[in-house]
Amino acid sequence: MLGRLNHVALAVPDLTTAVAAYRNTLGADVTEPQALPEHGVTVVFVNVGNTKIELLEPLGEGSPIAAFLAKNPSGGMHHLCYEVDDILAARDQLKAAGARVLGDGNPKTGAHGKPVLFLHPKDFFGTLIELEQS
Ligand code: CO
Repeated sequence: MLGRLNHVALAVPDLTTAVAAYRNTLGADVTEPQALPEHGVTVVFVNVGNTKIELLEPLGEGSPIAAFLAKNPSGGMHHLCYEVDDILAARDQLKAAGARVLGDGNPKTGAHGKPVLFLHPKDFFGTLIELEQS
C-alpha cells in the first residue's frame, strides 16, 4: 500500500523566518507560500531532490497545528506524508485493520491538488501520517 515518501512536514511558528533560514542560511530551493484555509495552514515546500520538506504555519482560528506549536513553541516535526496508489482503497484497508482516520474519513484536497487523509498518531507510534494519492 505504502509508496514513496512525498514529504516531511515541520510546523514553524513564523513562516517568513523559516523560509529565510532555509533559503538564505541553508541555500535551499523554497516555493512561494500557499494558503490552505481548508487545512488551517499556510505552507511552502523545500525541494531537496529525493523528497520535500513542508513548512507549516497556522492559518486562522482553530488551526490543527496550533496545539502542536503550543507544546513545541520553537517548531518541530509534525507529520510524514507517504504516497498511495488508491487513497480510498488504502483508507478502507486501514479502517478494517483498526487504524483511525482523522476527520470525517473522506479525503480533502492537499497542497499538491491531490486527495489526502491523515491517520491518528497514536496508531503509528506517535507520528501523524498523511497519505496522498500519487
Ligand atoms: Co503534508
